[in-house]
Amino acid sequence: MSMNRRDFLARSGQLTLGIGALALLPGKTARAQANADVKNAELVTVTQQSAVLTWESENPTEGIVSYGLSENGLDYQVVDPAGPTRFHRVEIQGLEPGQTVFYDIQANGESAEPNEYSPGSFTTLTPPKGTHLFTFATITDMHVGLMSAGAVGGISSFVPVECPLDDPTCWQVGNQAVIDAINKTASDFTLVKGDLSHEYQQGQFEQARSFLEQLKSPYYVVRGNHDRIGDQPEDYFKKVFGLEATHYAFSHKGVRFVVLDSSNLETGIQEVSQEQWVWLEQQIETLGDEKLILVLHHAVTEEASIIFTLFTEDQQRLFSMLKYENNLIGILSGHSHRNIVTHQPELDEVPCIETSSTVHYPGGYNLYHVYTGGFMQTYHKIGGNDWRIWEEAGRAMYKGDAQKILFGSLADRNFSYRFKKSIPEPEPDETGTGCGCQTASDSGSLALGAAALAAGKLIGGSS
Ligand SMILES: [Fe+2]
Repeated sequence: MSMNRRDFLARSGQLTLGIGALALLPGKTARAQANADVKNAELVTVTQQSAVLTWESENPTEGIVSYGLSENGLDYQVVDPAGPTRFHRVEIQGLEPGQTVFYDIQANGESAEPNEYSPGSFTTLTPPKGTHLFTFATITDMHVGLMSAGAVGGISSFVPVECPLDDPTCWQVGNQAVIDAINKTASDFTLVKGDLSHEYQQGQFEQARSFLEQLKSPYYVVRGNHDRIGDQPEDYFKKVFGLEATHYAFSHKGVRFVVLDSSNLETGIQEVSQEQWVWLEQQIETLGDEKLILVLHHAVTEEASIIFTLFTEDQQRLFSMLKYENNLIGILSGHSHRNIVTHQPELDEVPCIETSSTVHYPGGYNLYHVYTGGFMQTYHKIGGNDWRIWEEAGRAMYKGDAQKILFGSLADRNFSYRFKKSIPEPEPDETGTGCGCQTASDSGSLALGAAALAAGKLIGGSS
């Protein structure tokens, strides 16, 4: 599923209004759902072989998803493994890349109406060309210490939603769940894109570190505006994580990750220091054949809106440095707590990615599957009854528009991006399989058919 630039531009028309102008936006879709036991249905994740749907029921009920390769041929079923529950999660597995699948969510024998966030069909991702090199994870805005969510600076009409959980509380549940989930993936490392603490206190950084130390693979932290020094006696972010500098770079299998500190140390306001600009220039000059992924807490594009993005002077400086930089393949940010991909004309089609916070709706984490020919992003929600209670309550944030603002479109959360120029194929290793990873289909023309859906239960079938 490649990104559709027209979609993004259309989206920017909304987003450049900024959150403060939400009152001007059209209200939520007026189409009523036919089935009260399928509320807030969301098609969350679509990968090259699977899809995840979540929804809520008014009362505990069995959940069923029927699916198939045509609208009138929903011949397969997956039953929610949780049994009767208010909080449903169903995964459709065993699909082929580039396959269009139709589905229907049912509760109490009735189907749910499709909605903007669960449209009733999807097409699985087609991975980029070439060899799979590695996978990494990102999380952002851990906000250790946050007890309510939805307050946005300067917008007084946004009433925060209090965490309904006590012990463990929401930030504990959300952060623990993403750590546990990432540990079940084959990620080489995790990037934490800022705001590890809520109030830049030493104890909050230490609690964030105690979550991250549970990760089975390395992690890299980025300073956010909530991780500033502020009125504290010293730089606890730097101290607790043992950082020599809060801007740094590391290389991994053909990609250089360049991390910037975009927060003023006193106020947290978006700002990149002179020292970092000089350093960034050097990083770019020494890239050679390496691809570049830039990582910083704040967004960078004009499209991301002034609330979340770098100020104009810093933007211009960054765009002029990166304008002809063909090795740039992505800019990863946090801060806005929303899933969105924006673009900047000077950076061509390079995706500039913001992702949701781990501590409130919609929560979760992202995976990046890097191939020689591109990368594929997938978004993953977390589960658990406590979290789902909080997820449901969190939808009331932003005057009830949390879903519209934070969840993002399917293509913001899950997409395949092709590099202009591929990373050189790795030398075959001793097993003759390069990095030991899979090779993606070039054409996406794998045989499609019902057999590919065998992971589901055939309705009325004997096999
Ligand atoms: Fe932030």
